[in-house]
Formats: sequence, C-alpha cells, structure tokens
Amino acid sequence: MRRYVIAGNWKMFKTRGEAINFLLQVSDKVPSQYDVESVVCVQAPMLRDCVKRQGDNLRIGAQNMHFKDSGAYTGEVSAALLEELEVSYVIIGHSERRQMFNETDETVNLKIKQALNYNLKPIICVGESLEIREAGTTKEFVENQVVKALDGISKEACQELIFAYEPIWAIGTGKTATKEIAEETCKDIRNIIENLYDKETAQKVRIQYGGSVNPGNIDELLSQEDIDGALIGGASLDAEKFLYMVNAALKQ
Ligand code: 13P
Repeated sequence: MRRYVIAGNWKMFKTRGEAINFLLQVSDKVPSQYDVESVVCVQAPMLRDCVKRQGDNLRIGAQNMHFKDSGAYTGEVSAALLEELEVSYVIIGHSERRQMFNETDETVNLKIKQALNYNLKPIICVGESLEIREAGTTKEFVENQVVKALDGISKEACQELIFAYEPIWAIGTGKTATKEIAEETCKDIRNIIENLYDKETAQKVRIQYGGSVNPGNIDELLSQEDIDGALIGGASLDAEKFLYMVNAALKQ
C-alpha cells in the first residue's frame, strides 16, 4: 500500500504573515503523517518560519533548489541550506520553471541527485503541453521526461521518489484532466519505471496528479489505482480547502 502525499504548491503566493496564519489554522488538524503525508511548499525566504510552525504532521517543502553544493549562483538556494533548515521536500522541474526559468531534463536529473544527497524528498514534475496532447504524443513526451529524470538513479533511490503528473493545460486553468486521462498517464509513468527497474520499484514510487485539483474533484482523482496523491496550486492556499483535500486522502 502506498501512502498518499497531498502537497500544496503555493508558488509566489502568500506573505510570511499569511503563511503563518494558514499554519496556525491547519497544523494541528492534519492527520498523522503515517496515514497521509501532508506538505506545503512555500517561497524560500519563509521556509524557516514555516518549519518552526509545521506541527507534528505537516511538512514544509521548497519549490526549487540548485544542483551544485555552493558557488557563484546569485539568487539560487542550495540543498545543504534546505537540509539545515529542516525542509523535508523539494519540488523539482515544475513546468513553470521549465517554461520560464530554463529548467531542462538535464538540470532536473542533477537536482534529483542533489536533493537525495541532502535528505530531501524530491517531487518531480512532468507533463505535456496542449499541443503535445493534441498531437497525440503525450506518452512519448512524458516517457522521455521520466527516463531522463531517472538517469543514473539507483533502484533504491527511485523507490523513495514522488512524481507529479501535471499536464500544463490543466494548471491554473480550472480544466482538470478527467480521472481517466490522469490515471492513464500516471499508469504509463509506473510502467516506464517498471521497464527501467522492476515491478517492486514501480509499485513503491508515488505518483501524484496536479492541475486544477480542488475539493470538488479530488475524491475521484484519488480513487484511481495509480494516483497516490495530488500537487495542488490555487486550492491549497485556502486552509479549509487544504484540510478537506488532506482528509479526502485519509478517507480513500
Ligand atoms: P493549480 O492547482 O492552481 O492548477 O496548480 C497546479 C500546480 O501547478 C501545482 O504544482
């Protein structure tokens, strides 16, 4: 049985004060980590304050990090610093970073390795644009992203990873993938991992769906066999909605 992971990606939303307010509302209400892993990924400057207020069961994640230990990389954040701040998760390769900040399959691969070196759990984002979906090449496109992400990653390390299938056309558009479409690609990702490693590894990897997930659609998405959680943008900013969605995973 794979444990559900419900992660909020707050992107460049919320000030420190707003974030603390949210954590005060939710941190003692989220279920035990042993039942559902609940995470919110916040802007880097407030990671420390959020970790201090995460409570026993909510975890804090970063939205990006650099793949080098240290160096002249103005504006970047190192994995060593994230580990020191007791950050637990890091989103890697979000489509917004791929599209706007030159993230490539190669840097995604380097970042996954770096995150693992520093005890951070990577949430690796993959997913196709509308053009690719309409051209009917989603499977090949996502396969290429997954294979390149996993280059040089051991079977044991792979088993700890979390993938997030986020079709770009569903992000922030209110156009959620149907549960069938979401399940189809999440299953494809699991099959790719089985082909690269083995069945045991494929069964252990968690695969989230992301793209306009909200309290109205999360139950049916999580009911799918290969969907092990959600990576949620807009709806995760609201404390009540976030708690609803975490509890939806608990009920499955
Ligand atoms: P929305 O839930 O706002 O569509 O964002 C999804 C996302 O990009 C999460 O990483």
